[in-house]
Amino acid sequence: MTDPDSSGNHPRHVAIVTGASRGVGLALARQLLARGARVLTLQRHPQAAAALGDGPLEQWACDLADPPAVAQRLQAWIAALPRESVSALSLINNAALMAPPGDLATGSDAHLSAAMRVGLEAPLLLSAAFLRASADFMVPRRLLHISSGLGRRAMAGASSYCASKAGLDHLSRVIALEEADKPHGARSVSMAPGIIDTDMQVQLRSADPARFSAQGMFAGFHANGQLDSPEGCAAKLLAYLERPDFGSQAVADLRDPG
Ligand SMILES: NC(=O)c1ccc[n+]([C@@H]2O[C@H](COP(=O)([O-])OP(=O)(O)OC[C@H]3O[C@@H](n4cnc5c(N)ncnc54)[C@H](OP(=O)(O)O)[C@@H]3O)[C@@H](O)[C@H]2O)c1
Repeated sequence: MTDPDSSGNHPRHVAIVTGASRGVGLALARQLLARGARVLTLQRHPQAAAALGDGPLEQWACDLADPPAVAQRLQAWIAALPRESVSALSLINNAALMAPPGDLATGSDAHLSAAMRVGLEAPLLLSAAFLRASADFMVPRRLLHISSGLGRRAMAGASSYCASKAGLDHLSRVIALEEADKPHGARSVSMAPGIIDTDMQVQLRSADPARFSAQGMFAGFHANGQLDSPEGCAAKLLAYLERPDFGSQAVADLRDPG
């Protein structure tokens, strides 16, 4: 997505990735930089820049459980991008926070609320900021929301996670409808990424089986070597992001991308 322009400068793919301090988001940011993109990451605990590699990188330490101020800042940041420096613009809503697994009635309001804010309110507001600030960009604009199979299949003990991912899928469908008839409309995909060997899987397989009946299934994924690596998952996500037909399905699954 990096093409030289007539002035000899090199417009870059500008990619915004949430939750890039570890797991899939960190691998996405590393691979985007390696491909020559300019990268902005949003998480509470930024990584040492050396852990991401060389290239134009900006990291914001921010709490997506309080998204309005972050969304305003992002809108201003995108609006200030010199148009001629951008060959494509992407927002990858990757960050998620899983409340401790257990029935809804046993969850704390603080955990449940934070999970919904990070998992759904932040993607909604960041997507709005992205669409407002980039409406006059004449380059491909892509929204990739990292969803989950659990947004499509209910699982006891994961209410806020399931609800936020189902909401993310429907958000993507609405954005796709709203942008479809615009001359340079953005494309939106909500992608279930498979199962990946990250801290989130550690949290699921370490849960108390008395509170979370699926704990054994997650322990089995790990024991049986069924987990994808963050790097492998990120490579597939970026290959999908670059597909010419990106956005033809507003909801997709990386294990059967079509
Ligand atoms: N791992 C899997 O098997 C799996 C399966 C299906 C879907 N997914 C989805 O894939 C995506 C990546 O998951 P992962 O497994 O890589 O997760 P992870 O290892 O738990 O990493 C989560 C990321 O989200 C960020 N984050 C969490 N709370 C935040 C907050 N309040 N404000 C800002 N950033 C916050 C974290 O950064 P800080 O802690 O620094 O804030 C971290 O970078 C998520 O959307 C997840 O739901 C994962």
